[in-house]
Amino acid sequence: MDKSKEYQRLKQLVEKHNYLYHGLDKPEVSDFEYDRIFNELLDFEKQNPKLKTADSPTNKVGGVVLSRFEKVTHRIPMLSLSNTYNAEEIIEFDEKVKKFLNTQDDIEYLCELKLDGLALELIYENGFFVRALTRGDGVVGEDVTENIKTIKNIPLKLKEDPELIEIRGEVLIFKEDFVKMNFQQEELGENIFANPRNAAAGTVRQLDSKMAAARPLRFFAYALGAKEGIEFRTQKKLAEFLVKNQVPTMEQFNSHPLRQVCKNAAEATAFYHSIEKIRSELPFDIDGIVIKVNSISVQDDLGMVARSPRWATAAKYKPQQAETIIENIVVQVGRTGAITPVAIMRPVKVGGVTITNATLHNQDEIDKKDVRVGDSVIIQRAGDVIPEVVQVLLEKRPKNSKPYHIKEECPICQSPAKRGEDEAVLRCTNEKCPSIIKGNLKHFVSRKAMNIDKVGEKIIDAFFDNGLVQNISDLYKLDKDMILSLDRQGDKSADNILASIEKSKKTTLSKFIYSLGIRFVGEQTAKSLAEHFLNIESFLELESEEILKVPDIGPKVAESVLNWTKQKENKKLIKSLLQLGVTIEIASRNKSGPLLGKSFVITGTLEVGRDEAKQVIEENGGKILSSVSSKLNYLVVGSDPGSKVEKAEKLGVQIISWDDVKSMMA
Ligand code: IVH
Repeated sequence: MDKSKEYQRLKQLVEKHNYLYHGLDKPEVSDFEYDRIFNELLDFEKQNPKLKTADSPTNKVGGVVLSRFEKVTHRIPMLSLSNTYNAEEIIEFDEKVKKFLNTQDDIEYLCELKLDGLALELIYENGFFVRALTRGDGVVGEDVTENIKTIKNIPLKLKEDPELIEIRGEVLIFKEDFVKMNFQQEELGENIFANPRNAAAGTVRQLDSKMAAARPLRFFAYALGAKEGIEFRTQKKLAEFLVKNQVPTMEQFNSHPLRQVCKNAAEATAFYHSIEKIRSELPFDIDGIVIKVNSISVQDDLGMVARSPRWATAAKYKPQQAETIIENIVVQVGRTGAITPVAIMRPVKVGGVTITNATLHNQDEIDKKDVRVGDSVIIQRAGDVIPEVVQVLLEKRPKNSKPYHIKEECPICQSPAKRGEDEAVLRCTNEKCPSIIKGNLKHFVSRKAMNIDKVGEKIIDAFFDNGLVQNISDLYKLDKDMILSLDRQGDKSADNILASIEKSKKTTLSKFIYSLGIRFVGEQTAKSLAEHFLNIESFLELESEEILKVPDIGPKVAESVLNWTKQKENKKLIKSLLQLGVTIEIASRNKSGPLLGKSFVITGTLEVGRDEAKQVIEENGGKILSSVSSKLNYLVVGSDPGSKVEKAEKLGVQIISWDDVKSMMA
């Protein structure tokens, strides 16, 4: 191939994967593969310097800035790191550093984990958190302040108050939280994330900060951007500042240091190997270690080249992959009837964990990889957690193998299974399918729902399989003899079960709505519904125009809720729950905000729409009343007001403008 065409091809390939990774959070190749392609492009440019163009992705830090968030230029660009995949190259890096500094002396390094999340910059002015930016393309980032404010482990105020300090670090999700979160996503029939990194990035870069607040994001700091009124001599001093100011960092895990000052490259190499050994035990994903020259003045001497600093490098680990054989493919049915194919594999160890099955997601995924029973495959723990099939080894495929098709039939109840509109998964169409019923029962008793903590999944299976419980109201009809009739249930545990069921009878409306397991109604949506409808009776009688007024509820969710509430059987179910003694606390709107405890009536035309004004008042804790009385706190008056003004004056109710409301909220 002609050289310039080859160059074009390489550039486009890198651009494509850059965008998939940084722009869409939907990488199609592993980091390892991406780095290989990127290095191929770098090599090509080194060998053909005359061909190199200004638009080459090697000139950029990588990534695309999307238009949805405000774009903000970093005071100091956020660079990336050069990287290597083996320990020898740590020595080479050290040699380059020494050569540049023209010295034979040992260089001291600070070594720490390379966190596999989304890079972020927190800006503090006079000690106050004012803004958070993503890395974006390195030069211009996105202002994601609202989402980041919701991250529990980020301090909004530092102990010290330098004029300016930009703290850089990584947003990530712990492996354990990720598994739970994906499980919930699946339960709600929503997309599941490929790995914790994508989940973290996807959460930070969506526009609803409530959603961000509901997700288990964490932040860990490791570097600085711009600063005024404060100096650090070493990386280690910076780390101490962070600890003192309660900015979370990665110090140690199970007494294993995760950040260490190393006297020379040999020590750094030893650190690299020691972390690799404990990698799979860490609660979060890493993809290597970062080696930084410890002295900040030496860092300044070294400066940077093109896209990365000369004073730091990343030594990465190879992805944790292994070869095995698919012995069978089975299908499982979830609470929403979703039918998921799962590959059952010959057990194999990957990064210290024995893997026996991997989700194949749906038929489209199976077709894309052409996964068949009997195939030898390479599997990988994606982001170290969920095993996935990376590749089928076609050369090892048995001759008689056949493509795998999921039967369009529920494996549990044999009812027809269908794909929903725009959906890749098949779903069982029988609402009475045992899998769906059991799944709903398990959801009902779960912690965030009715929290019947002594009734676990196994007990639900036993209740259902023995015909004791067919729907959620049956749980409240259980008596001791019924429980004792089950295998392995003793006196004490029966009492515990009954006590825990009894305790659950008192609940809140939002928990109750969430417990019903209505599709697309997660915790947050249940809260919004409860705050809007206040009691179960009005919730059951909701109309379609009404539900669309509820904040955060779009047509998809509205349709699903309406579908549920309009079914006679469901109304009956709730009636019987109430008769059995379930009491639902009446919800109250907006328990906080600057307008808390104040009541408002609006008259005349305001600069904002009336509905919007009401909503803003309510969101800030205020209450909207329909008529003026002596109990009213404020009458908000716009142009062309009606007779309400006169009445308010008579009763001594304070009369204010929309601007006054705004300043009350500020
Ligand atoms: S220092 C000059 N330290 O790696 C670069 N980066 O490839 C300063 N990263 O965008 C970054 N863990 O997202 C640094 N302990 C660590 C890191 C780390 C992860 C990421 C960061 C950056 C990318 C660079």
